[in-house]
Amino acid sequence: MGNSVVLKGNLLYSTQLNEITALPDHYLVCENGTVSGVFAQLPERFSGLELRDYGDRLIIPGLVDLHMHAPQYTYRGLGMDMELLDWLNVHTFPEEAKYADLDYAQRAYEIFVRDLARSATTRISLFATIHREATELLMELLERSRGVKALVGKLNMDRNSPDYLREASAAAAAEDTALWIAQTRGRFQNVAPIITPRFTPSCTDALMERLGRLQRETGVPVQSHLSENGSEIALVQELCPDTRNYGETYSRYGLFGGEGCPTIMAHCVHCPEEEIDAMQNNGVFVAICAQSNTNICSGVAPVRTYLNRKMRVGLGTDIAGGAHLSVFRAMVDAIQASNLRWRLLDDRLKPLSVAEAFYLGTKGGGAFFGKVGSFEEGYECDAVVLDDENLPHPQPMSLIERLERLVYLSDERNVYAKFVAGQAVDL
Ligand code: GUN
Ligand code: FE
Repeated sequence: MGNSVVLKGNLLYSTQLNEITALPDHYLVCENGTVSGVFAQLPERFSGLELRDYGDRLIIPGLVDLHMHAPQYTYRGLGMDMELLDWLNVHTFPEEAKYADLDYAQRAYEIFVRDLARSATTRISLFATIHREATELLMELLERSRGVKALVGKLNMDRNSPDYLREASAAAAAEDTALWIAQTRGRFQNVAPIITPRFTPSCTDALMERLGRLQRETGVPVQSHLSENGSEIALVQELCPDTRNYGETYSRYGLFGGEGCPTIMAHCVHCPEEEIDAMQNNGVFVAICAQSNTNICSGVAPVRTYLNRKMRVGLGTDIAGGAHLSVFRAMVDAIQASNLRWRLLDDRLKPLSVAEAFYLGTKGGGAFFGKVGSFEEGYECDAVVLDDENLPHPQPMSLIERLERLVYLSDERNVYAKFVAGQAVDL
């Protein structure tokens, strides 16, 4: 089997929030894409499997990016001097409009998919654009590259968007989304659709209602944005005066978690108490996107509040609000933002530790994809082999210290090998 393999090296992974398990010179056994166990000595019954010995390198679970905009990869690092709504109008919408042109989409998405394969990310939930054909193209390129397992969303936008990036009506948008789901669901091994109302300001009630119906008919998961920025929240209140909070603009149409509706909400920076209660009750996943929240001046999400409530939390890079594809970088950004929040805003909310951020970027976000993000038995075997030889040190370091340095200092050059559900990736 192509996806049965034994990996040997220094294993590091989370089983719980505040602790990283470090096993020097161990064997990670993967059968049919799933972890059969970790062992100090390889049991005889696995001796027939292919063995890949990575020596003194570190082997960690693949990283998980719960929120990223694939078409925005082209302008990452540009135009970072505005707040959300202006930034969308000036930079984002003109760029996304280009994906009506399949040649442009092909060129742009090829670059993104190549870089993503080389990264330490093995699972990702992506926003595409409103264009069905370009979105299918992105899905095909991801499938061909085999560099990650991905959820991909064709966007829905039927209001408050420029003429050149607005769907003709609620019915047209929802019908196009339904057609796209019918054409892509079950077609790929590594890629699947996710229902994606861009955010409440760009979706009429009529469109949300149709998307809710489509969700119930298909069981396809949902992603969107929530309570990211003050002006955005004020706009939502103006557009939906009969709701008590932003979350309700999704929940009243069945697009906010609960039985049969797995949901990711990105940001959650300024959620009022009742909205947090609803997210908690419905098992909504929060995607913490700290770098984006800094770049476009949104604020700092109260990640400790969510963790104290045992809510489901992962990390997002949110390119191009964030400028970096690395989930290691997202861990560092989340830690740094939590440090400042604790120091400047609320000293009752303890900052994140490295172990906690590592958990969020692996097992925390991985839970959205099933048993993903750890090396516990029964987990899908997503693994990344990291080489830290280019980070020499005059003294020996513990495995945890070596991992901590890689969280802060690594880039794609440190990714030595990568496996997605046991399948080796061409880097
Ligand atoms: N809210 C609606 N669209 C977007 C987007 O493209 N990026 C971010 N950060 N927030 C959004
Ligand atoms: Fe976003």
